[in-house]
Amino acid sequence: MAKKIRLGLLFGGRSAEHQVSLVSATSVMNALNRDKYEVIPIGITPQGQWLTGDQSLRFLKEGRTAKDLLSFLPADPTQKALLLQNHPHAAPQKLDVVFPVLHGTYGEDGTIQGLFELADIPYVGASVLGSAVAMDKILQKQITNQAGIPSVDYLWIKGVDWHNPTESEQPAITHQLARKSREEVLQAIRERLGFPVFVKPPNLGSSVGISKARDEVELREGIETALQFDRKVLIEKAVPHAREIEVAVLGNEHPKAAIPGEVIPSNEFYDYDAKYVDNASALKIPAELESELLDFIRSVAIQSVTAVEVEGMARVDFLVNDETKDVYLNEINTIPGFTSISMYPKMWEASGLSYPELLDELIRLAIDRHEKKRRLKTVYQPKEDWYR
Ligand SMILES: Nc1ncnc2c1ncn2[C@@H]1O[C@H](COP(=O)(O)OP(=O)(O)O)[C@@H](O)[C@H]1O
Ligand SMILES: [Mg+2]
Repeated sequence: MAKKIRLGLLFGGRSAEHQVSLVSATSVMNALNRDKYEVIPIGITPQGQWLTGDQSLRFLKEGRTAKDLLSFLPADPTQKALLLQNHPHAAPQKLDVVFPVLHGTYGEDGTIQGLFELADIPYVGASVLGSAVAMDKILQKQITNQAGIPSVDYLWIKGVDWHNPTESEQPAITHQLARKSREEVLQAIRERLGFPVFVKPPNLGSSVGISKARDEVELREGIETALQFDRKVLIEKAVPHAREIEVAVLGNEHPKAAIPGEVIPSNEFYDYDAKYVDNASALKIPAELESELLDFIRSVAIQSVTAVEVEGMARVDFLVNDETKDVYLNEINTIPGFTSISMYPKMWEASGLSYPELLDELIRLAIDRHEKKRRLKTVYQPKEDWYR
């Protein structure tokens, strides 16, 4: 029998989406084919400590930690292994590949991907660049807009400018509000975008810190709320008659898009409660739209991940105006919800790929990308040893 792949499964994390990750990881853990994989659970506490071992998921769910389980991954490519902090003589846990089932900050934003790159361990999902750009809703818009992909009109402002407009010396870049008093900021938003608008911290997920503002009072409140979570704020025109269409994308050089689905939120918009708490939002696969429109959305989803250089997987979310049928890219999620009832795996299931098969494919893609990258040169031999 072939040797089992030693798979490090990471969950939890220093993120507002810690709990969501635990639910996703439980499903992944249960579905991984144990004939193929030896699973090494790695739980990251909300404080950022790493725990390894079979109890780590339970410990995180109970909000506990344990000295004996504390571990770390050295950024040393000759090791490729997890070490126990308090047992330096314990055998290192070799890792063939890792799967970060982490949502939001320090998991989906390129930071942990950077550690895997340094440690030279293949990992599931987008690399440093794609993760970082996809995580930032402003950067993501700038890059996808340049690639000709439509998204909703927007303005953005830095927290420092909102708090101290007179101290700012930087000229504004595209769509940025800088060197303006609060009154001028509010006026610019009112004139260019009108109401209602969506106010978002650009580097979060799960709708944390997002609000819909119908007037200037709510707009001010929304900006203050968003600034509790991020150093910038994105203000976006609200799409009227919005329908939320999601597309699952899978692949490295030749990404494929699954059959799109639709989310019908139980609240006024798809906020945190509608996503996780009240259990009343409906998911429809396939989305009930004309097939030409669905094909168009699938092709834009593939263009979007290509523009942002996201490999492995992504759930690409769109807003469609149901009256005009205008399509807007809303966001690219590089580590989408992964519970067995989440949209990403469900859309693949509807397209003929079961949940365990999807996991196999993601792990294969991780190893394949790593193999190809390894063939690139990391040393350059100059003609002469000029530096001696
Ligand atoms: N411009 C918009 N127009 C209409 N609805 C929006 C808009 N932006 C966000 N929403 C609503 O807010 C939800 C969360 O926003 P989103 O940008 O997807 O953030 P997150 O990354 O937290 O999921 C969306 O699913 C949608 O219901
Ligand atoms: Mg979203």
